[in-house]
Amino acid sequence: MDKLQLIPYSNEVRMLPGSIPLSKIGRRSFFSTIDRNTGNPESYYLSISENGIKIVAGGEAGRYYAAQTLKQISETYPDRLPFLEIRDKPAFPYRGFMLDSVRHMTPIEDIKKLIDAAALLKLNKFHWHLTDDQGWRIEIDSYPLLNEVASYRNGSHFGKVHDDRIYGGYYTKREMREIADYCADRHIDVIPEIDMPGHMVAAIAAYPEISCRGEEIPVETRQGIFPDILCAGNPKTLQMIFDILDEVIRIFPCKYIHIGGDEAPKKRWKECRHCQELIRELGLETEEELQGWFMNRVAEFLQSRGRKAITWNESLNSGLLNKDIIVQMWMDRKKLSVDFANSGGNIIVSPFYHYYLDYPYGMTPLNKTYKFDPILKGLDNQGAGNVAGVETPVWTEHIRDFNQLCFMAFPRAAAVAEAGWTFEENRDVDDFNVRLQALIPRLRSLGIKPAPEKDWNPNPFRRLIQTIRFFLSITTKEMIKGYD
Ligand code: ACM
Ligand code: ZN
Repeated sequence: MDKLQLIPYSNEVRMLPGSIPLSKIGRRSFFSTIDRNTGNPESYYLSISENGIKIVAGGEAGRYYAAQTLKQISETYPDRLPFLEIRDKPAFPYRGFMLDSVRHMTPIEDIKKLIDAAALLKLNKFHWHLTDDQGWRIEIDSYPLLNEVASYRNGSHFGKVHDDRIYGGYYTKREMREIADYCADRHIDVIPEIDMPGHMVAAIAAYPEISCRGEEIPVETRQGIFPDILCAGNPKTLQMIFDILDEVIRIFPCKYIHIGGDEAPKKRWKECRHCQELIRELGLETEEELQGWFMNRVAEFLQSRGRKAITWNESLNSGLLNKDIIVQMWMDRKKLSVDFANSGGNIIVSPFYHYYLDYPYGMTPLNKTYKFDPILKGLDNQGAGNVAGVETPVWTEHIRDFNQLCFMAFPRAAAVAEAGWTFEENRDVDDFNVRLQALIPRLRSLGIKPAPEKDWNPNPFRRLIQTIRFFLSITTKEMIKGYD
């Protein structure tokens, strides 16, 4: 075997002649230390020589990644470890995966399996999508109806799939702290998302006064983009968001909180006396600017609590988003995310057409996901330096159980993980496909069943059929026409 079966591949690997039997490596031939002078806590140096194993890491995370690499090497060389030297550090500091726990909830024990897989792949951010139109999944004490009402929906009508049963539940604070601890042990930050001002139907169903019309509406059972959003002109709305975020912060110790900001139609704001008054008072011109103002207030609140906000790219439409908010690019035809990065803002790259794992392999084959370069076209030198990293989301309208989730997410998540860790000049799609053979049993041993190889890169005919079938199954007339 001439190349190590590592995923993600390490950035500087030097194979040396010779090997050492595993039986000869004991405590005295295993040396591990931390040298913080390297400046990157995720970096590490690993050597295997006749003296044994030596690890010098830039921090605890680097030491953890060195151990992950060593584990992968020892699996392919179970008897004798080859002599080598690896100097490794990630291409990007932000390497995330996102799970939508609203449309369908993944049990805590299964989430832990995903976290184990993420740790193996040197991913370091778990973005947890916890609120949306179809449910509220986070326990909040100060507004009890969020769990009594907003956590349950009266059926699930996603595309052409219908289920009349009540669906719901939420993760308790104890469970979420357990996940936060589980992640921390694996050098993964949890980034909880409270999506606002759109995708708030469930919360509005519990507390109608935070919407512009104040009307009672049910928790949404359909998928799509819905007109009832938070009323920015009602001071109670921001107060409620601040109270909720204060509780979120006490559950999750990590630096980042995602505040959504995607797909918020402005129909209600245009008709709302309070929102229009606020626009005039603030000297703003448009409802999009009002969204920018709203996101900025929430981000400033988080900053006052020592946290940092992330939003989806639509919040850039305001033209006035604070530069210290991190923008997650998923669908941005106007390239506002590129401009944001070129002018000093940080971005996370999650293009839906390449990195969304809920789309069928026919639409997003493994190799297409792999080949995507996170340094977006149009970025200048400064902009390229402002790419914080990559994230691969799994939305779950059409994913109802864990096996289906694993089929969709793996091995494509590994392709994104490699884009996050391995520098572009060290990436190669054919080589990745070879190395994947060693990853599959590793994933299986964690309780994850990846898609079989025959499904990874369908031929053009199967791609077309799968894509058409998918869109036919998810699309309804209502979705195309828009909801009102
Ligand atoms: C998104 O996919 N609505 C961020
Ligand atoms: Zn309003």
